[in-house]
Amino acid sequence: MINIGVLVSSSGSNLQAIIDATKAGKIPDARVTVVISNKSGVYALERARLAGIESLVLSPKDFPDRITWCERMAREMVARDIEIVCLAGFLLKIEVPFIRTFPGRILNIHPALLPRYGGSGMYGLNVHKAVLAGGDQESGVTVHIVDEEYDHGPIIIQAKVPVSAGDTPEILAARVLEQEHKIYPQAINILIRSLHAKSSPTAL
Ligand code: GRF
Repeated sequence: MINIGVLVSSSGSNLQAIIDATKAGKIPDARVTVVISNKSGVYALERARLAGIESLVLSPKDFPDRITWCERMAREMVARDIEIVCLAGFLLKIEVPFIRTFPGRILNIHPALLPRYGGSGMYGLNVHKAVLAGGDQESGVTVHIVDEEYDHGPIIIQAKVPVSAGDTPEILAARVLEQEHKIYPQAINILIRSLHAKSSPTAL
């Protein structure tokens, strides 16, 4: 059984998509084992509770610095035999000690077609405002491996949506979010398959 740890900061609709996919057997032999939020009172924590999944709130404000905070999150994940970490609406930068604990095993979802419209400040509606301001005919969502550069790691999967005349940032965000929920489980399956391929004995 593959244990998945999910980092959240807000509504948790991507968390919900991952939970639903594991429960429906769409991510075989995997389960969400723990949810860690950097903020209390977010609906993602309620989603975890309703699904019977353990959750923790670890705020960087409660730690001397971001590195110590990330080291604690990594320890909590390791203590639960987490093999894959999914950032799902997680709004803070993960520091190197966490990334090096799970090399090539951390996924993030970004509501645009990276490398366009990525980087610091590009989150939530800011992304969709920038796409509309840029006059792009299409947008979409990217799931990528988290490496030591923000919004940068190898892309696992992308899905495109059209940008329609008259779109507001909110309308575009909703169209993209619908695709997020479809492709995050697919991305997790791709990562699991690639990890199995790496760990399986090579043919003689
Ligand atoms: C969504 O806009 C998503 O694109 C981004 O974070 C926002 C909230 O996601 N990843 P969620 O509903 O908390 O999963």
